Amino acid sequence: MSTQDSDPRKVLVVGGTGQLGRMIIAELQTFPGVEVRALVRPESRNKAMESLSADVEIVEGDLSSSEDVLREACRGVTSVVSAVQGGEDVIVDGQLALLRAAVAEGVCRFVPSDFTFDFRKLEEGANPNADLRRAFAERSVDEAGEAQVVHIYNGCFLDMENLFGFLGAFDIAHGTMALWGDGHAVMDFTARRDAARVAAWAAVTDHKVPDHFQVAGDSLDFWGLKQAVEEGSGRIFDVVEHGGLELLEERIAVLQEARPDDLMAWLPLIFWHDMLTGRPKLTNLKTSMVPDFEPESVRSYVERHADEFGLGSQKPPG
Ligand SMILES: NC(=O)c1ccc[n+]([C@@H]2O[C@H](COP(=O)([O-])OP(=O)(O)OC[C@H]3O[C@@H](n4cnc5c(N)ncnc54)[C@H](OP(=O)(O)O)[C@@H]3O)[C@@H](O)[C@H]2O)c1
Repeated sequence: MSTQDSDPRKVLVVGGTGQLGRMIIAELQTFPGVEVRALVRPESRNKAMESLSADVEIVEGDLSSSEDVLREACRGVTSVVSAVQGGEDVIVDGQLALLRAAVAEGVCRFVPSDFTFDFRKLEEGANPNADLRRAFAERSVDEAGEAQVVHIYNGCFLDMENLFGFLGAFDIAHGTMALWGDGHAVMDFTARRDAARVAAWAAVTDHKVPDHFQVAGDSLDFWGLKQAVEEGSGRIFDVVEHGGLELLEERIAVLQEARPDDLMAWLPLIFWHDMLTGRPKLTNLKTSMVPDFEPESVRSYVERHADEFGLGSQKPPG
């Protein structure tokens, strides 16, 4: 980055009122001399005031705001980090507009809202979220100018809302795990807090950062995941075997046909399918590049959240 170490560095965070964005802001604030500006939608100002510390500079606007508004938000910042969530208007069009504004204002680094597995390895049409991130990545190549776009890949978020929630892989209440296929493909898991740390570091470091930055707290196949969760929780999980991956593909197709607008009926299954195939596995992990960083393992995360797993309700394994 062109900015000197001694300069105060300012980072613009977009999506700072969201689950990941809030953590990114908190992580940025642990770096000495780093100032944070957050682009917040007018209707979310109160949410921002309640959830962000008073020293975060709040500017109002959103990704569909005028070029002037976006350029003003980017003025004087060294990096932009996006943690937005949304459809094509947000992930592709909105982030491209923000990138153009950032480039026009001389921003050095731009971290888009990827934070997932390696979507470049999935076929177009296989996963709508992956398609949007791939579209932004492809189009940003011609728009980035002197700015470096850093894509962060972290596999599945290792938290109650995602790996143990949204994905539908676990039914904690009933102590079961859902499997299609043989479960031998290795998958990557990273705590959301650790992904936030990596994004913050990538935004402020003076070191060279790869354009495609892959990190993981843990890499396990289905059976290794089962073992880690059992060791961490002290509970035994029964595996519900649904058959081959082609049966899951059929089920997804049926649900998409019957309920095309009901994303929650089929999107989690698409993610679980993609992970179980092993296709979007991270293969060039650079986790050790981040200084003083020991991302959490599945077992450790589950141990910390033992109450939510009903620790002690069954006999521990072994
Ligand atoms: N790997 C995984 O397992 C995994 C799991 C979950 C999420 N993720 C990824 O992590 C990233 C963040 O997700 P999240 O769960 O933290 O999202 P979230 O909690 O839904 O937050 C989304 C943020 O984006 C903001 N936003 C949405 N549209 C906007 C617009 N047009 N202009 C400006 N801001 C806008 C929201 O602002 P308001 O507060 O105004 O609504 C909010 O701050 C996404 O890329 C998501 O795909 C990965």
